[in-house]
Amino acid sequence: MQIHEIQAKIQALTAELKGHNYRYYVLAEPVISDQQFDLKLKELEALEKENPTLALADSPTRIVGGGLIEDFKTVPHKRRMMSLGNTYSEEELREFDERVKKSLGLDSVEYVCELKIDGLAISLFYEEGQLVQAVTRGDGFQGDDVTENVKTIRSVKQQLHGNFPKSFEIRGEIFMHRKGFEKLNALRRSQGEAEYANPRNVASGSLKIKDPNEVAKRPLDITLYHFLSDTNPFQTHSDSLQNAHQWGIKTAENSKNCRNIEEVFSYLTHWDEARHDLGYDTDGVVIKVNSFRYQEELGFTAKVPRWAIAYKFQTETASSTLLGITYQVGRTGAITPVAELQPVQLLGTTVKRASLHNANEIERLDVRVGDAIFVEKGGEIIPKIVGVDFSRRSEQSQPHIYITHCPECNTELVRKEGEAHHYCPNVDECPPQAIGKIEHFVGRKSMDIQSIGSEMAETLYTAGLVRDLADLYDLTFEQILALDRVGEKTANNLIEGIEQSKSQPFERVLFGLGIRYVGETVAKKLASAMGNIDNLMSAPEETLITVDEIGERIAESVVQYFAEPKHREGIERMKAAGLQFTAAEKVSLGSNLTGKTMVISGVFAKHSRDEIKVMIEAHGGKVGSGVTGKTDYLVAGDGIGPSKLEKATQLGVQIIDEDTFLDLISNQ
Ligand code: IVH
Repeated sequence: MQIHEIQAKIQALTAELKGHNYRYYVLAEPVISDQQFDLKLKELEALEKENPTLALADSPTRIVGGGLIEDFKTVPHKRRMMSLGNTYSEEELREFDERVKKSLGLDSVEYVCELKIDGLAISLFYEEGQLVQAVTRGDGFQGDDVTENVKTIRSVKQQLHGNFPKSFEIRGEIFMHRKGFEKLNALRRSQGEAEYANPRNVASGSLKIKDPNEVAKRPLDITLYHFLSDTNPFQTHSDSLQNAHQWGIKTAENSKNCRNIEEVFSYLTHWDEARHDLGYDTDGVVIKVNSFRYQEELGFTAKVPRWAIAYKFQTETASSTLLGITYQVGRTGAITPVAELQPVQLLGTTVKRASLHNANEIERLDVRVGDAIFVEKGGEIIPKIVGVDFSRRSEQSQPHIYITHCPECNTELVRKEGEAHHYCPNVDECPPQAIGKIEHFVGRKSMDIQSIGSEMAETLYTAGLVRDLADLYDLTFEQILALDRVGEKTANNLIEGIEQSKSQPFERVLFGLGIRYVGETVAKKLASAMGNIDNLMSAPEETLITVDEIGERIAESVVQYFAEPKHREGIERMKAAGLQFTAAEKVSLGSNLTGKTMVISGVFAKHSRDEIKVMIEAHGGKVGSGVTGKTDYLVAGDGIGPSKLEKATQLGVQIIDEDTFLDLISNQ
């Protein structure tokens, strides 16, 4: 190869590998396998080794590189690195909300909830889009400069792209995924070294290693959650992080904007349970006031911000004995093994059962009936077994043998490759699944038949009145009245609710059928793309995957569903009963914005940004995310950033306020 060819090859490989790193670590959407990645990395390494002068400074091979660090320099923080006030109680969280509302003189405040990841706090500085410094928290006033070590973390973006501010700081947490931690410990075991205690300790220890080559071997990750800048161009915390994500920064995942404290509580309830399915540890939720203006108004106490608080999930551990393992069949057919325990006190309640999640978990814990175990409970969540006291294991104990058939209907269980749970495939006749299907169908987001709740769904099923969704539409007043504890009023409400559900749009009916992987959004897409149920039922997978957001997994599931004669028959019966199986025309309020692209920014007096968006689309316009040469109008609200206005002026984009916008859509 000629020298310029080598140079071009090195450049191309560097760019490609950086792209893969970004897709893998930040977007979590890799497009090549780990082996393919390693091959390319090796190819680049070889080229660089032979032509050291051609290697680029930001080469991904340098992620492992640099010499030893003599000593970590202690540097002062530009802004003090505060900690957070925390609480374990819902009551104190309500008090926090009351204080915030009172100080701001508001009835409700928008919050952002983020998972609190248990790791090591870090502050990153970017200048002109380049990562220039990474500092640990230290004592909050000064910390250690660990830049070289942080650069070895692949999800840390060293060179940003897009429209980033010239100079800013962003703070977050460095942590380790459980899988990486276990791999590391397996390696240490094989080398006869002591195992590490938990992912958090390894993460914080790793940053203090003086050899970046060693640090690079530690599978560390980062999440960034606090944007700071002298000239903050953003109105809200969530806006700042969304933008940072667009520059390539790995920002907090699973965060949610909550319009009030009640929505915050729903988030807490959800994650108290769902956190166990994450690949890393989270010990709580951080709740932050979203508006930067309000944050400023609230300020800080001597130690912590008044605009944020950490809610910690409660945990307590106790010892008990595993008496047996039983199995539950969920609404989706997923099998959950349940540990039956010698009753024990935990967080003030008696615990007799604990979740064992799935077969992998039993294997991972190597837990056997008769074992002395440790059980942990946190807040509302179901207690779980966290370990076995092997020193007390009986010699007669035998490994647990997982069931092969459904405990409810005796059908042979299946386990798809790559999935942790065993499933009962008898979706239509296995009682908990059939009842679950009815519940889903009548649910608020499907047919919204409010007169049928969980209990009624079960009653209708058990009485043999509803075995198929279509049976709902054959129910008679007399049949319902004959049920236990049902009066005329209930029976009437039920019949009326069922009747009214016939006018629910096609997309809801489709969602209500409960086809695996067909959630609300997918149902909408399928309904509008296919137009009616007949087109959908006859569409092969190849056609379905051409629909926006529909991949092979969904397409396969849809085809399988409609291949079942019983399902087709049910659809025909529901058609005959008068349900909607044709998509309605999209509501259009006019076409005076057709072909126009608008960007919305700032806060408005009469409408929310989302409402304005809907109005634009209903009048045929499009909503853009940033001001570009293609933007026709910038709808500007209060507190819009000066840079947006400047850009719009430069590009000759028309800037209009809320009232002018409302005139625009009503007049023409
Ligand atoms: S905000 C002034 N957000 O938890 C605001 N902190 O116990 C400071 N942490 O010091 C922090 N996840 O090290 C914030 N999403 C998150 C967080 C988070 C984890 C850590 C952070 C903080 C500590 C407080």
